[in-house]
Amino acid sequence: MLLIKNAKVVVGEYLEALSLLEKDLTIITDILINDEGFIEKIEKNINSHTNNNTIQIIDANFNYVIPGIIDPHTHMRDPGLSYKEDFLSGSKACAKGGITTFLDMPNTIPNTVTENILNEKRENSKNRSYVDYGFHFGGSRKDNSIEISKVKNSVASTKLFLNMSTGDMLVENIETIENIFKNSKLISVHAEDEKVDNAIEFADKFKTPLYLCHLSKRTEVESLRKAKQNGIKIYGEVTPHHLFLSQEDRNDSTTKELLLRMKPELKSKDDNLALWEALKDGTIDTIGTDHAPHNLEEKMKSPTFGIPGVENSLELMLLGVKENRITLYKLIELMCKNPAKIFNISKKGEIKIGNYGDLVIIDTDNVYTINNKDVISKCGWTPYHSMKTGGTVISTILRGNIVYNNNSFYDIKGKEIKYL
Ligand code: DOR
Ligand code: ZN
Ligand code: ZN
Repeated sequence: MLLIKNAKVVVGEYLEALSLLEKDLTIITDILINDEGFIEKIEKNINSHTNNNTIQIIDANFNYVIPGIIDPHTHMRDPGLSYKEDFLSGSKACAKGGITTFLDMPNTIPNTVTENILNEKRENSKNRSYVDYGFHFGGSRKDNSIEISKVKNSVASTKLFLNMSTGDMLVENIETIENIFKNSKLISVHAEDEKVDNAIEFADKFKTPLYLCHLSKRTEVESLRKAKQNGIKIYGEVTPHHLFLSQEDRNDSTTKELLLRMKPELKSKDDNLALWEALKDGTIDTIGTDHAPHNLEEKMKSPTFGIPGVENSLELMLLGVKENRITLYKLIELMCKNPAKIFNISKKGEIKIGNYGDLVIIDTDNVYTINNKDVISKCGWTPYHSMKTGGTVISTILRGNIVYNNNSFYDIKGKEIKYL
């Protein structure tokens, strides 16, 4: 059993009548997680001596305790590209960043496009993750809709690339795309510009729920807003880099010009603003990192698309809270609650009795400067070097197990998640 004392928990937000500022409403409470890893009690002054079980106690010291972050979009490179990242290094980076669940993308080698390959990936990842994880399946150029039907209840979604990107998984044939939509429970799509509108049309035609990955432009967000208004079952994701960085950042140095390359590319400051607005008004549903590590040598040689992100996503988004762009309540919705809802992840995303004890203790007063030398990811660099955070992850707790605490890492207890 794990007892967390003196946790500051966000319970809602209210409109402060006079200033019209949205503020977080919080309570101070203790949280008890049972030996099965579930939250058993949320109340003040839980007695640690009431039964014979040994109770481990951790004092949150009136710091915020929020649900573990669910990152719906990561490329852990394992198997096949594990010189860039592997399950152990990538999940360790997650633990440091407060991520207790990540969903892994299918552009590993071989691409995750058959049931057999998925099962091999499952075997390969067993007992090699600090946090929990799930898999997206891949839609393939060589129509694999039969494979999709076989696995759709045990994966997060079918990931479909409608633009060319790292991993050569582009699907262009209309009939194939239609078959993939028809046979999937949920489609996650890499779509940019007009491809966003194409994807929305397919979703509407086949009534397949659609998750738009990494929206980066004002016009794309407007397409999403309109589709939602038209009653289409659709969700949108943004990355921290498309919120905090713009194409202007690439002009700082030739190194940055090469490092800050990804698909979709960084956009204008006006696009940054449109994305922040869309977070506030509920058009955007989730924050996903699109953690896509490549080695420095690869990045420096020629344009290589993808940047790492899991270590910094929560602490950067806390900067958004600090700067009053969003409330902490909203952050929790975007990074915990909504990913669990959209991908039907069972018993995660909220601090409530019966849910898994996946929790992060954060210190929002302790801000620090992100540095390449602290990077856990195998790639060894971060696009946020020299940027300030909005706080620090103190501890990451997975189903009642402390997996990260003050720069130390503990048990490797991550398991594949279950879906509702
Ligand atoms: O920049 C990107 N990198 N965009 C993608 O869509 C894939 C990713 C990768 O796997 O490197
Ligand atoms: Zn993508
Ligand atoms: Zn991606």
